[in-house]
Amino acid sequence: MRIVANSKVPGPAWDELGEVELLDEWPPRAPLPDVDVLVAVVARVGSAELELFPDLRLVANYGVGYDLVDVEACRARGVAVTNTPGVLDAAVADLTLALILATRRNLVTADRWIREGGWENNWARPRLLGRDLAGSRLGLVGFGRIGREVARRAEVFRMEVSFHTRRSGVALDDLLSMSDVVSLHVPLTDESRGLMSRERLALLPDGATLVNTARGGVVDEEALVDELVSGRISAGLDVFADEPRVPERLLGLPNVVLTPHVGSATVETRAAMTRVLVDNVLAFTRGEPLVTPV
Ligand code: 8YV
Repeated sequence: MRIVANSKVPGPAWDELGEVELLDEWPPRAPLPDVDVLVAVVARVGSAELELFPDLRLVANYGVGYDLVDVEACRARGVAVTNTPGVLDAAVADLTLALILATRRNLVTADRWIREGGWENNWARPRLLGRDLAGSRLGLVGFGRIGREVARRAEVFRMEVSFHTRRSGVALDDLLSMSDVVSLHVPLTDESRGLMSRERLALLPDGATLVNTARGGVVDEEALVDELVSGRISAGLDVFADEPRVPERLLGLPNVVLTPHVGSATVETRAAMTRVLVDNVLAFTRGEPLVTPV
């Protein structure tokens, strides 16, 4: 069984894989025959990449979101795909609350002012006046495992929580018009790409906050940047349309908090993701049913 990975991932479970060849670039320059298993860490795996692995049988994706993997192309070649659901919900929900708090309470701006020696003039700087979470309306777009974890936390902060899904909850446009904070918790699919269009962003009330710990592609990023530059709304963004590129126009804005796709980035959660990934690979090598097939 030949296993290759485009990156090693943290946690003790990794060693149970035995010998893993680490690629020094993705995609590899030359075809790699005889590879059975690919551990894909933030790696695009489409038809072109699959061509390089003619004998591949399994793509083990490190992450719950598998939008970088062309599942149809894999299926057509008899390549199974697994992901790591269920173990990162709390960590992503924690970061979501952190971004809501940081944005609504101007945390990053406040920190910067201290470092720049600006405390003296505190009262002359109304921009440090934030907004209460208690009593404010949180609209969740998507209400799966992560969305529900966010709701539980938000309720402790006494936010009024509503949600939209394709099948239940508040109609999306209504949810956007009535929310002080909107947080996105849908996977990136053909259906959800660009869901937060320019027209929909315009429905957000003045002073509202958009939080995105899902995928950048769910939002029309150019339209979002226009709204943020105008100062009409604020945002807490962990994900971007073309990572690791962050729109230049965001970098000087006080009404935006930016993090580099770290929703699942805790010691415990990353180790748990590795555990799930390794369990899938081991099941595959033993001919047992995959633990979390896509
Ligand atoms: C990243 C994520 O995949 O699980 C997901 O869908 O977005 C993250 O967990 C992970 O950070 C890979 O580095």
